[in-house]
Amino acid sequence: MKWGLYATGGIAEAFASDFNKVSGSKIIAAYARNKDKGRLFCERHHIERYYDDEAAFLNDPDIEAVYVSTPHTLHAEISIKVLKAGKHVLCEKPFAMNAKEAKQVIAVAIEEKRFIMEALWTLFLPTIQKVFEWIETDRIGEVKVIQANFGFSGNRDPQGRHLNPDLGGGALLDVGIYPVLMANYLAKSTPESISAQVNFTQTGVDGTTVMNARYPNGMLAMLSASIEVNLVNDLIIYGEKGRIVVPLFWMANEATCYSEDKVETFISEEHQKRGYHYETQAMIDAINKGNLSHEVASHQFTLELMETLDRIRSEIGLVYKQDLD
Ligand SMILES: NC(=O)c1ccc[n+]([C@@H]2O[C@H](COP(=O)([O-])OP(=O)(O)OC[C@H]3O[C@@H](n4cnc5c(N)ncnc54)[C@H](OP(=O)(O)O)[C@@H]3O)[C@@H](O)[C@H]2O)c1
Repeated sequence: MKWGLYATGGIAEAFASDFNKVSGSKIIAAYARNKDKGRLFCERHHIERYYDDEAAFLNDPDIEAVYVSTPHTLHAEISIKVLKAGKHVLCEKPFAMNAKEAKQVIAVAIEEKRFIMEALWTLFLPTIQKVFEWIETDRIGEVKVIQANFGFSGNRDPQGRHLNPDLGGGALLDVGIYPVLMANYLAKSTPESISAQVNFTQTGVDGTTVMNARYPNGMLAMLSASIEVNLVNDLIIYGEKGRIVVPLFWMANEATCYSEDKVETFISEEHQKRGYHYETQAMIDAINKGNLSHEVASHQFTLELMETLDRIRSEIGLVYKQDLD
């Protein structure tokens, strides 16, 4: 499959660096509005075609799939353009600014018969797959409680994408999405009730958000997100018969299962920080099977995740201009 990159920022670097581990695919083109940055990016990653013209990029008939990695506020608009240009989309998280936008994008994907998936790479990591296997094989019994944090002391530039409300800044959409997605995935549903506390930054976005949720199956979740402080970024899953601890769970390469009779640690074979190729490979395999949505990061999962994030934002009073359209 021939790929194009829409934007060449920080995460596009990591995505392109991991791409050589994807089988039978190649990045053939990249679009970046800044010529110097775009050209250098293409040179670094041996990408043949650099475009500074968005229309020319979208009209390149050889590009079959596009990875969208602009700031959040542009995800929906760009995904729709790419889908209408007849290409499949892997869109960075969050999929859109709110559930309303997410529904519009998915409707276009269905209409255009193109595949689209939110880049929820964590769900495809071998360590996280192992965690799911431990739970499915009853190693810790029924899951009753989870704790998950993702917080870092971020860039202090008020114009930068972390703090700027016009670029969808704030902890929840940037990193809080990871604890929330793990809770929704493990409970196989959305919260029946959720409460949240917030500290706002001077720019008016959430600097830190702390959440408590209860799911229909009785699972309780204690979740937090911050762009102000370095939290201990672990996921701990407590079952009736044991627990699973996943350090740095959003990019996990190691997890330990403490069950009644034994302690087992899984270390991902590659034992590396990144692993963006797993989601890409999963998407390609799904397309090759003729699917338009992936069973793991499905349209429904993404929509429900976006709805959960909307509910949390409503609890803490965080409104973006896209909510008012
Ligand atoms: N999956 C993950 O692990 C992960 C990690 C980090 C980020 N992300 C997600 O990826 C997205 C980007 O994050 P990042 O850290 O890569 O941000 P970044 O380094 O600021 O890169 C953003 C890119 O978007 C481009 N861009 C901005 N506005 C544009 C516009 N109007 N038209 C065309 N291109 C535009 C920027 O171009 P210029 O250079 O010209 O400004 C830059 O290349 C975010 O939504 C974030 O949530 C995911």
